[in-house]
Amino acid sequence: MLKSVILIGGDRKGTRFRPLSLDFRKPLFPIGGLPIIEHHIQACTELKEVQEILIIGSYNSSEMKSFLDEVQAKYSINIRYLQEFVELGTAGGLYHFRDQIRRGNPEAFFVLNGDVCADFPLRQLYEFHKSKPKALVSILSTEADRTESVNYGCLVTNKVTGEVTHYVEKPNSYVSPLINCGIYVLSTDIFPAIANVFYSRGESGDWNGNGIKDEGHIQLEQEILQPLAGTEKLYTISLNMKWSQVKNAASAIYANRQALELQRKHYPERFTYKTNCTIIDNVFIHPTAQIDDTAVIGPNVSIGKNVVIGPGVRIRESIILDYSTVDSHTLIIHSIIGRNSKIGKWTRIEGTQVDPDPNKPFAKIKNLPLFNQNGKLNPSTAIIGNGCTVSSEIILLNTIILPSKELTRSFKNEIIL
Ligand code: GDD
Repeated sequence: MLKSVILIGGDRKGTRFRPLSLDFRKPLFPIGGLPIIEHHIQACTELKEVQEILIIGSYNSSEMKSFLDEVQAKYSINIRYLQEFVELGTAGGLYHFRDQIRRGNPEAFFVLNGDVCADFPLRQLYEFHKSKPKALVSILSTEADRTESVNYGCLVTNKVTGEVTHYVEKPNSYVSPLINCGIYVLSTDIFPAIANVFYSRGESGDWNGNGIKDEGHIQLEQEILQPLAGTEKLYTISLNMKWSQVKNAASAIYANRQALELQRKHYPERFTYKTNCTIIDNVFIHPTAQIDDTAVIGPNVSIGKNVVIGPGVRIRESIILDYSTVDSHTLIIHSIIGRNSKIGKWTRIEGTQVDPDPNKPFAKIKNLPLFNQNGKLNPSTAIIGNGCTVSSEIILLNTIILPSKELTRSFKNEIIL
């Protein structure tokens, strides 16, 4: 029997995802037509050995309830949310909820970062882990290029055995092209190692030197993986695969593209349409959405529940969230349209493609600052917040609109507060 833990963090972590995180808890933001972490759940349910999924985060339980009810009903597996009352870090929550994880004696458990988008080769990872009897942790890794690698956990390995001999989290300078994908298998014997960190702190327990006492806060990467490297207890399997993180709006567009491709491959039944509009693959349309037959949608578009799309509309590389309407002959490119928004006729909403070459297997989405040195907004995905009304015949280029705004004129490179 195996279990899975999905780490989703909490409110404090959603800042780069604004303004989308004003309406959505980031782990529940839909990509490829499913909340981000439902992709993790789907992947876990593909392994019959996985009998329970524990989602650990510090969002209030009430905010996760309807999602949990939905997935619990949809997948025949036990799924529970365990709330941290303060953020405990990437290993603190595992330790705090260790009894829940160990209950039923799982042979091992997966730990999945809730903000990654991938094909989750869990079977391969688990088989690899089993083949290393001394391993406490096996990490899924992939190769990034030199400049991108330093933004991740970097691994130096013994190429013959797969042992991680050196681990550095987000190094200041180049260490290795192999990066930690945030997807692991942990043996339940890991808990004494985490307990050692917990007890070695004593009362001062201040890991990050910020003067705040946070005894329970433990970072898996710096406090567990780093010391385990070179002790024959930490291994990695490196795969060449599509993988990305969802950190900001641009990365959501990129992840949407990847998720659509993976979903199309594994769950083609989700890609049937009730409309005769022109579809340029890959496109997800929720069965309740109404799309006029003369619209042209795709590639890489997800359309949510009860969305209405009028005649002659053209949408590509975008996410249209639930209950929005797009009136006739409007063009939407590289944009995210929030829930319950109304977009008029003959309007143009266009963001800039800031994500990298879609054909590259590994992609670091440039985390451009919002403004450049001249105080101008950097090129970005266009975002229309939840509940906005955009009049007909206006043009919004690289514009970010906060929720509930009514726009009656055109804007370019601006944030409308
Ligand atoms: N429950 C819980 N509690 N989850 C947390 C906490 C916490 O206090 N802090 C972070 N997380 C979750 C985040 O929501 C995210 O899903 C995941 O753990 C990773 O945390 P981040 O702090 O966002 O780390 P990162 O993305 O910059 O880097 C990590 O992931 C990379 C791969 O995606 C590291 O593990 C890197 O080494 C790795 O390359």
